[in-house]
Amino acid sequence: MKIPFNKPYLSGNETRYIAEAVQSGKISGDGLFTQKCHNFFEQRYGFKKCLLTTSCTDALEMAAILIDIKAGDEVIIPSYTFVSTVNAFVLRGAKIIFADSTPDHPNLDVHQLESLITPKTKAIVVVHYAGMACDMDAVMQIANLNHLFVIEDAAQAIDSYYHDRPLGSIGHLAAFSFHETKKYHQW
Ligand SMILES: Cc1ncc(COP(=O)(O)O)c(C=O)c1O
Repeated sequence: MKIPFNKPYLSGNETRYIAEAVQSGKISGDGLFTQKCHNFFEQRYGFKKCLLTTSCTDALEMAAILIDIKAGDEVIIPSYTFVSTVNAFVLRGAKIIFADSTPDHPNLDVHQLESLITPKTKAIVVVHYAGMACDMDAVMQIANLNHLFVIEDAAQAIDSYYHDRPLGSIGHLAAFSFHETKKYHQW
């Protein structure tokens, strides 16, 4: 028997909503459903400002542009992640400093972070692998002490929490993914 890599979550309303969007005459984005998405995330999780992009990959690239990554800037990124996390910063000319995982978890080992920081470091990117939170208190403390941006790659972490704080609300910027392999359910 062939076991599929994933089965996308379908609520049953998808085709009805697609038809509604098409019939609304606004099919290039930024219509009713875009607005519903923005409102849902801002209200439910208290995110200050949400912007729907075409993918998490695009959102990560926007994050790199927004923090003004330039050639020669160093960005600390976990070595265990999807390629988009790294590519977003490589495309702006950053030098990537890879941070290893802890011995017993794929998430980055915060104990190494300080030793990876140099005068050229501009940002730390954390990845909450499979929706499991990184140690954000430690990450934010180190980042604030060193005046660094923190980007949360929360692609796999919608509706996941660090203590009682939603992932994606702790760093300076965050990106989520709606790729069909990600965990979704009916709220
Ligand atoms: C950790 C991580 N970052 C980024 C991405 C990219 O997400 P998307 O497919 O929405 O561009 C993924 C998804 O594959 C991911 O798992």
